[in-house]
Amino acid sequence: MAVIGTLRWRKLFWFEAVATILAVLSPCSTTGFMRVGTNFRKPSVPTARPRGIPTSRNHCSKLPTLKMMGTFWQAMHSLSIFTARGLGEAVDFSRFRELLDVGGGSGAFDIELCTRYPNLSATVYDLPFVTGIAAEKIAESGLSGRVTTHPGDFFADPKYPAGHDVILLSMIMHDWNEQEDRGILRKCYEALAPGGAVVISELLVNDEKTGPPPAALMSLNMLVETLGGRNYTPSEYRAWLEDTGFRDVKVIWFESAGANGAVIGYKR
Ligand SMILES: C[S@@+](CC[C@H](N)C(=O)[O-])C[C@H]1O[C@@H](n2cnc3c(N)ncnc32)[C@H](O)[C@@H]1O
Repeated sequence: MAVIGTLRWRKLFWFEAVATILAVLSPCSTTGFMRVGTNFRKPSVPTARPRGIPTSRNHCSKLPTLKMMGTFWQAMHSLSIFTARGLGEAVDFSRFRELLDVGGGSGAFDIELCTRYPNLSATVYDLPFVTGIAAEKIAESGLSGRVTTHPGDFFADPKYPAGHDVILLSMIMHDWNEQEDRGILRKCYEALAPGGAVVISELLVNDEKTGPPPAALMSLNMLVETLGGRNYTPSEYRAWLEDTGFRDVKVIWFESAGANGAVIGYKR
């Protein structure tokens, strides 16, 4: 009994520790977590966060104070540098020349991947306020010659910037519902030339939807924090990619804080 009690306590401690980290990383989720017991998403039950959050569909750019925003982007950048390192080791980007990082945030993936792959250049495509943050990080890294920014809105813009042979979606899809994600994938497909690839980097939930725990916890965070997002399975991504026209879809697993796998599809 004592052993079972200890195991249970350890599990609880671990769950709470991760939930706390997620809450700190994403400050606007704190209120949602306080109300998680009463606000699991169902068609008839409103999500934890009120719908119609002021003027934007995006949580990351509308955090309550500048201080919280600074904390969020520092934490996000540090997490993403490590995740990008894992992705860059697992997926060979040496065959690509021009990366478009859709919702690229602070540019952590672009900085890390361009450092690792000297022939790669990158464009961070994000909301105008966020590309300003990315520009500072890029300048600090000394990569301004190879990493640029392109302010825009991936829902409102009819087309994504062209001329790239690989598009990255890191921690984007889990923010949105299936319909919105399919719309993003369609625009990625249209922006790529034949032979180009899309790389979805996420904490993937297994096809049985039983775990692994980091992906399940992140999915819980997304259920609480967003209006329609959750973490998806490789099969779900495969179906959406193939319906969009992508071919040779494959999944590459790796270990890192912000992702455990990449789902890659090619435009033929
Ligand atoms: C969870 S962050 C991921 C950032 C980055 N990809 C990474 O992994 O470090 C989600 C990103 O999507 C961006 N985003 C949200 N809505 C957007 C929109 N409508 N147009 C462009 N970017 C958007 C946010 O500004 C934010 O940078």
